[in-house]
Amino acid sequence: MKVPAQDILKETEKTLGLIGKHEITEEDKAWLTEATASHYANHVNPGILEYRKSVSTEYISVEWADHGNCFTDIKGKKYLDLLGGYGIFNVGHRHPKVVEAVTNQLKRQALHSQELLEPFRAMLAKLIHDITPGDLQFSFFGNSGAEAVEGAMKLAMLHTGRKSFIAATAAFHGKTLGALSATAKAKFRQPFLPILPDCYHVPYGDADYIESALRSADEVGNDIAGVILEPIQGEGGINVPPDDYFPRVRDLCDRYGALLIADEVQTGMGRTGKMFCVDHWNVVPDIMCLGKALGGGVMPIGAFVSNKTIWEQLFPEPWLHSTTFGGNPLACVAAIAGIHVLLDEKLPERAAKVGAEMIEKLRGLRRRFPKLCMDVRGKGLMIGMEFPTDAIGYEVSKALFDKGVLVAGTLFSAKAIRIEPPLTITQQEVNMAIETIEKVFKEINAKHFENKKIPVRK
Ligand SMILES: Cc1ncc(COP(=O)(O)O)c(C=O)c1O
Repeated sequence: MKVPAQDILKETEKTLGLIGKHEITEEDKAWLTEATASHYANHVNPGILEYRKSVSTEYISVEWADHGNCFTDIKGKKYLDLLGGYGIFNVGHRHPKVVEAVTNQLKRQALHSQELLEPFRAMLAKLIHDITPGDLQFSFFGNSGAEAVEGAMKLAMLHTGRKSFIAATAAFHGKTLGALSATAKAKFRQPFLPILPDCYHVPYGDADYIESALRSADEVGNDIAGVILEPIQGEGGINVPPDDYFPRVRDLCDRYGALLIADEVQTGMGRTGKMFCVDHWNVVPDIMCLGKALGGGVMPIGAFVSNKTIWEQLFPEPWLHSTTFGGNPLACVAAIAGIHVLLDEKLPERAAKVGAEMIEKLRGLRRRFPKLCMDVRGKGLMIGMEFPTDAIGYEVSKALFDKGVLVAGTLFSAKAIRIEPPLTITQQEVNMAIETIEKVFKEINAKHFENKKIPVRK
């Protein structure tokens, strides 16, 4: 050990004491803020501090609590959460029913024996069968979206006996090596190439490209195991495909014997106005990936789900794919409670209604500030606004942040800002969000696009 145990005990005691406190003193706040920034710089990654809006001014914002549809930082500044943890908080922050389920489970048993049968893993798998479309029936639980994608790709290889995949440009499926093969951003992939060598990317949203890639692969004998697509691209910039895209891809997959893998990690659990985004088009994928909001906004959990014929590959050797913490009781009860809340409070329907209203209002702003806001697109409460440059996109999200509204760019660019609030967002909060966005648009539009002196040629 680099530090004497006595000193470590003192520090952990202090930290544990803070975790348990309801009210913390000004001194505690100052210490925690300073220690957080310093430990990020020295023990997490100083690079992160460069990117975070929360440290981009004198004011360092350290998160401390969340409730309803808001975050509060340690100094008590409240943020309306229009980001939703990149799609985690569909049922709001710490929904009482989810917290109650997790707390009750924690009081009895936290993690699983790994040997006995686990009741809540079983209940959750049945529940996912009940809410997913078509013949989707069996689930495997992991801890993240990327893990769900890994499992889905392995299952597609097992079932088809093929090794190649088709994915889309601007796709994001995670950063573990298999999922990264399908992810499309060069900066994330290049240092690790060749990863899965036979993963081909075609432009998103046009089924002709998928057809041509499947045909070519077929002609050269490089048969495709799976076509993996997000029903709406999240990190690629909130890209909504035409309505005939998924139905056509479904037919093409059937024609060429490839499996359709729908990555619903971000679009699932009511986000787009239906429980799953593919439900908008009545498409049943062969494998569906889930994550993010599946854990009810309280626990991390991911899943891949498929039908019996495909899952039979795993019957004789269930340990062909396994993970220690996947399907743990805390995560499973959180997911069960989260699904209960989604249905009980009709949150997918709410996302459709509130989302349509927000899109309409934002499009109104776009019409007023056409040079600043170049596009507003989305479905349900998965909404993107596009700005002319990354710098302007960042300026908008920073100005909103300063005014207590949390949004962010996407992983692919800062010029597309995503709006993905909890589906529980209230009318009053929607109004406040739109008013703040309007204020910020006015300020930034004035700065960049108004009162510019036209240079006079002499
Ligand atoms: C569509 C999609 N798939 C997979 C992932 C990866 O999930 P995770 O970050 O939990 O590994 C993400 C994360 O943003 C995602 O949006």
